[in-house]
Amino acid sequence: MRRPPAANRASHVRIGVVNGPKLNLLGEREPEHYGHKTLAEIEAMLRASAERRSIRLEFMQSDDERVIIAWLQEHAPRVDGWLINAAILTHSSEALRDALVAAARPFVELHLSNVFAREPFRHRSVLAGHAVGVIAGFRENSYLLALDALAEYLLAGR
Ligand code: DQA
Repeated sequence: MRRPPAANRASHVRIGVVNGPKLNLLGEREPEHYGHKTLAEIEAMLRASAERRSIRLEFMQSDDERVIIAWLQEHAPRVDGWLINAAILTHSSEALRDALVAAARPFVELHLSNVFAREPFRHRSVLAGHAVGVIAGFRENSYLLALDALAEYLLAGR
């Protein structure tokens, strides 16, 4: 997964954006950690940034690990990579880790909060070892930074 894929050279870059449990509550959920933007506002920011560069986005959120895993499998054939904020699943979901590895698409792990400055259980990610990189702590801008990083990574492989 380290080498950018050579597939889809001629077409637009297509990126799946995966949001885990309780990110649907952004805006009202612990704003001291996650800021004040709703997930819909973050999606709109991301879409505006993607549109400027002709990147196509597929956006999803679920509280259910099984739904996320099924979505990854279904969408893998039509995306070049993923941005993933797996929320609490980041720290424990071996099932999600295996699904990302099986999907075999490069991904950037991202977090709104700086997970390393929080409780010890948040310092561990079962996903990060398979990611292109990790971005954490920039609130909603983590999504924009992750999009930039993944787009550059994917374009470098074309
Ligand atoms: C989070 C950090 C996780 O530890 C937490 O469980 C979340 C959100 C973040 O974006 O900062 O739900 O992924």
